[in-house]
Amino acid sequence: MPGFKTSAGVALLSLVARSVAVPVVSEAATTVTSIPPVIPSQVSHHNVTSHGPYTGPSPTTTGALSTLVLAPSIPALPPGPDAYKYDRTGKLHAPMPAPYTPSGGRDTNGSAPVYRPLSDFDYESVALALYQEWIELDLFHWGLATFSVEDFEKVGLTAEDRFLIEFMADQEVGHATLLSNILGPHAPKQCTYNYPVSNVREFIDFCQKLTRFGESGVYGFLEHLNAGDVGTLLLQSISTEARQQMIFRQFEGLFPMPVWFEVGVPQSWAWTLLAPYISSCPANQTRLVWQNFPDLRILNQPNPARIDGSNVWNETTGGYTNTLSTQDVEPDQDCIKSDVVGINCSPGITRNRSMPLSYPGRQVFLEWDEPGKPIGPNNSYITNTTAGPPAFAGWVSQLNVTYTPLMNVTGNSAYTIQPNMSTFAGDPAVNGTIFLVLTDLDLYVTPYNLTMLNPHVYAVALYQSG
Ligand SMILES: *[C@@H]1O[C@H](CO)[C@@H](O)[C@H](O)[C@H]1NC(C)=O
Ligand SMILES: *[C@@H]1O[C@H](CO)[C@@H](O)[C@H](O)[C@H]1NC(C)=O
Ligand SMILES: *[C@@H]1O[C@H](CO)[C@@H](O)[C@H](O)[C@H]1NC(C)=O
Ligand SMILES: *[C@@H]1O[C@H](CO)[C@@H](O)[C@H](O)[C@H]1NC(C)=O
Ligand SMILES: *[C@@H]1O[C@H](CO)[C@@H](O)[C@H](O)[C@H]1NC(C)=O
Ligand SMILES: *[C@@H]1O[C@H](CO)[C@@H](O)[C@H](O)[C@H]1NC(C)=O
Ligand SMILES: *[C@@H]1O[C@H](CO)[C@@H](O)[C@H](O)[C@H]1NC(C)=O
Ligand SMILES: *[C@@H]1O[C@H](CO)[C@@H](O)[C@H](O)[C@H]1NC(C)=O
Ligand SMILES: *[C@@H]1O[C@H](CO)[C@@H](O)[C@H](O)[C@H]1NC(C)=O
Ligand SMILES: *[C@@H]1O[C@H](CO)[C@@H](O)[C@H](O)[C@H]1NC(C)=O
Ligand SMILES: *[C@@H]1O[C@H](CO)[C@@H](O)[C@H](O)[C@H]1NC(C)=O
Ligand SMILES: *[C@@H]1O[C@H](CO)[C@@H](O)[C@H](O)[C@H]1NC(C)=O
Repeated sequence: MPGFKTSAGVALLSLVARSVAVPVVSEAATTVTSIPPVIPSQVSHHNVTSHGPYTGPSPTTTGALSTLVLAPSIPALPPGPDAYKYDRTGKLHAPMPAPYTPSGGRDTNGSAPVYRPLSDFDYESVALALYQEWIELDLFHWGLATFSVEDFEKVGLTAEDRFLIEFMADQEVGHATLLSNILGPHAPKQCTYNYPVSNVREFIDFCQKLTRFGESGVYGFLEHLNAGDVGTLLLQSISTEARQQMIFRQFEGLFPMPVWFEVGVPQSWAWTLLAPYISSCPANQTRLVWQNFPDLRILNQPNPARIDGSNVWNETTGGYTNTLSTQDVEPDQDCIKSDVVGINCSPGITRNRSMPLSYPGRQVFLEWDEPGKPIGPNNSYITNTTAGPPAFAGWVSQLNVTYTPLMNVTGNSAYTIQPNMSTFAGDPAVNGTIFLVLTDLDLYVTPYNLTMLNPHVYAVALYQSG
């Protein structure tokens, strides 16, 4: 490898040189160029030019991918036979394979990693993540192209902020390239999309919510992958996505990270929340196995654009992500117009909100759809649930799932009460952008077996709790 000098290193040396009077050069005289090795090319992609709902012919294929289905659900079992075997004494229990190398671990025997899916579970999970990377790539470009410089500046987003959004789009090219390489020739391609937003603040809120389920959808399956090598690469991309989510919160004037733990959710929840915003995919697009649950609308979804964000009625641009609408926010109710600390919600590194967006004990009004509705690319997937009539709201946040009963159920609407739960003392669990699902059962699940809840899930939404 060709050598090179950095001017910072030289400057540091010269500083030392002056103070201790050792004779060394004080200025770099030459720049030694460094020719990089072969640069891997990006996956083929383009700027999607058409946006909006799908208006084409009926799809040529419908429904999720499927093979022979062996049982309606996976039975719950007690912990495996070895689950308690390891003795947590802090001492070593086995010979070491090499110096400084404790025995155990996955894929630590020296076999070369090949970064390929090892199962349908792996392939379908990574393919879902790729659909997500593609929408983000388009969404970030679309926002920059659709809204004017004045539109952005009016809500406090500068040229430097817009460059950051552009850079996020570039990151998505990298992620889409990585995942396409892992999946091989049948990797899902870029689609066309339909976004439920009509101004910059709705765009930023939608990005904040979309990256929430993008991030959480991957955490949910990461440690279940058969291929640990694939998991490592995916983690390295999703950590970037996590930063994007936080930056969109900052652009929105929200507290950047109001939780101690980021939540992970099942693939079918992520696909449920993603699919409504894909209008069509190319012919022969690789399809997914995941479930599309019916829509859940939060009628008093807290609105971060308001000073009193919890005092709202029907202020979203639609169900599923329940993205904020600014349409009915009067100027004297608009937090971006204030410069009072605790009220001002213009972009910032961090913001306090003296009137919380939501709080334990809040009555939350809900409305949901029946299954059987066409949705997703070319309207070629069909919403489905195997749950009975909904009886509980499941609040899924941080490390916890808590259920509250649905009250006054009439037809497809009801209300419930936001619970008061903490992950650990001092960490109220319901905060940030969280997942709200309707279920027919208050099944006990924990972060690593949350998917066991799916047969009991009726509808899925994002709730803006803080
Ligand atoms: C997409 O558009 C952006 C400008 O918005 C441009 O910088 C970029 O090169 C375009 N990408 C492709 C693949 O055409
Ligand atoms: C979806 O629509 C696109 C564009 O009209 C078409 O090329 C593609 O074949 C359609 N896919 C399905 C599954 O119908
Ligand atoms: C090392 O681990 C890999 C993957 O778990 C396995 O396929 C392989 O047989 C192992 N090799 C040896 C020498 O034990
Ligand atoms: C959410 O977190 C913010 C920031 O820490 C805090 O001010 C707020 O009280 C929290 N909300 C709830 C409901 O705990
Ligand atoms: C889709 O697949 C069919 C059958 O394999 C093939 O005939 C057709 O050319 C493919 N279309 C595209 C756009 O790749
Ligand atoms: C919410 O508003 C939409 C139109 O903005 C309307 O179609 C819908 O009926 C309203 N829902 C409720 C429950 O008020
Ligand atoms: C921000 O909120 C926290 C928690 O409520 C509070 O302790 C702190 O004093 C607030 N800071 C300002 C500047 O309002
Ligand atoms: C929530 O629980 C905490 C801790 O038990 C308590 O201090 C707080 O008052 C409760 N909040 C409500 C609204 O019940
Ligand atoms: C939902 O899926 C189940 C199991 O695959 C199937 O039996 C049922 O017909 C589907 N319902 C709808 C409305 O598509
Ligand atoms: C729930 O139903 C009861 C009895 O019908 C009624 O008194 C109450 O006002 C309802 N609550 C809400 C929030 O609609
Ligand atoms: C939340 O999760 C933590 C960690 O698993 C657990 O200790 C705690 O009991 C849970 N809290 C509730 C209210 O379920
Ligand atoms: C999920 O795991 C917890 C232990 O972490 C267990 O108590 C619970 O029964 C499991 N739930 C199901 C549905 O398997």
